Amino acid sequence: MNSRARVVVLLSGSGSNLQALIDATANRTFPAQIVGVISDQPDAYGLKRAANADIATRCCDRADFNNRAEFEEAIGEAIASFAPDFVLLAGFMRILRGSLPDRYSGRMLNIHPSLLPRHKGLDTHQRAIDAGDIEHGCTVHFVTRELDAGPGLIQAKLDVGATADAAHLAARVLELEHQIYPLALRWLAEGRVSHSAEGVLLDGLALPDPVVMDVDALRC
Ligand code: GRF
Repeated sequence: MNSRARVVVLLSGSGSNLQALIDATANRTFPAQIVGVISDQPDAYGLKRAANADIATRCCDRADFNNRAEFEEAIGEAIASFAPDFVLLAGFMRILRGSLPDRYSGRMLNIHPSLLPRHKGLDTHQRAIDAGDIEHGCTVHFVTRELDAGPGLIQAKLDVGATADAAHLAARVLELEHQIYPLALRWLAEGRVSHSAEGVLLDGLALPDPVVMDVDALRC
């Protein structure tokens, strides 16, 4: 019997986080498997990564729909067609304004390239540099209706140091993302973590703030 949790990943672009998740879940002892990848961009490289890993794909191109509600309904149908336990947003560049965050409440994660609640939205790396931040990083959080505002689960930090270039900083942060997203999925699939009206629980204990991972230790 296959008892691995079923996961759908939504993306719009390169899909390097998807790749990290594919690599982690390729090990059959991992408690989750990716059963589908959905993109709003027909030419997203992430779709190729999925196909290379024999993962089913769907594309819902916003241009094919009359309005946002119809587009989101199609996304919802595509997700539901995979009967997932969990939905992971990995560089999905659309804001879900309809009922999907509620429908998958406690079962939908996002990864964001900043230390939330700092720098919600776009251009996070340049904004961290402009703000003179000493630390920067990424956050895996539960998705709620409010953009980048759901409760955090895991963060990874780095010292901005002399990284004055946003592209370089983005690359450094992306490496951290690839470490913490599979870990967050593992915790979710193992049932170690939950999000409900009581907030986020990790191993039965309230988690008022995200766990900050020591990424060097994770690599060992
Ligand atoms: C990542 O930085 C992620 O945090 C953000 O979008 C980017 C996606 O990168 N939400 P990739 O497509 O996974 O390479």
